[in-house]
Amino acid sequence: MRKLFIAGNWKMNLTLAKSVDLATGLKQNFPAATSAQVALIPAFVHLAAVRQIIQDTPMALGAQDVYFEKPGAFTGEVSTEMLKELGVKYVLVGHSERRHILGETDPLLNKKLRAAINAGLTAILCVGETIEQRKANRTEVVVGEQLTRDLAQVPNEALDAGHLVIAYEPVWAIGTGLTATPAQAQEVHAFIRGELRRLFGSDRADRIQIQYGGSAKKANAAELLAQPDIDGLLVGGASLIVEEFIAMVRAAKEVKK
Ligand code: PGA
Repeated sequence: MRKLFIAGNWKMNLTLAKSVDLATGLKQNFPAATSAQVALIPAFVHLAAVRQIIQDTPMALGAQDVYFEKPGAFTGEVSTEMLKELGVKYVLVGHSERRHILGETDPLLNKKLRAAINAGLTAILCVGETIEQRKANRTEVVVGEQLTRDLAQVPNEALDAGHLVIAYEPVWAIGTGLTATPAQAQEVHAFIRGELRRLFGSDRADRIQIQYGGSAKKANAAELLAQPDIDGLLVGGASLIVEEFIAMVRAAKEVKK
């Protein structure tokens, strides 16, 4: 049985004071005895402050990006060592905003992913198609290629240690208010599970969590999480609102599979 995993991607939002307020609000309202895995993913410059607040809670810390090189002359970049020192457990790799706005490519993402998991971090690899690709019936081709390229040469030991999570985030649903229907999402999640079987074998594929992302919110969380291959949510906008995010954590606690 895969644990449900709810992660809040705060993106380039909030001031330091507002990040502290949000983390504090989440801590105060966190449901008792939740079985869900939960992570907060603030901006790099807010990681240390958020860590102070959540360190004695079931919430873990994630980062939005990482660089693959060892520490050195890479102005503006952040290493795995720096993240680990701050208590970071998860790192997003290949979020669609980094692919499409910042121009990150699959070979670069593969290096970042392997650096993260080789350092003992858990990579959340984001994949997903644009609206043009969906309309052209290319969703499976696009997502399949992203998985094959970004997951090349990932060691089995890292998978066995649980250091890989996949997030399916249809680009057309991110920040748009449009959500994939539970059936549309499940269809792609099942395809991703099949690709993971092809790449890593059934046992490993069956243990990898696949989150859904793209306008996930309190109102659609339970229905999405009830799908057999949806193992959690990667939440953007709604993760900035205490009541919304806590409701999704609760939904994960209550959902019956
Ligand atoms: P959204 O973002 O929930 O605001 O659509 C999701 C994401 O980009 O991870």
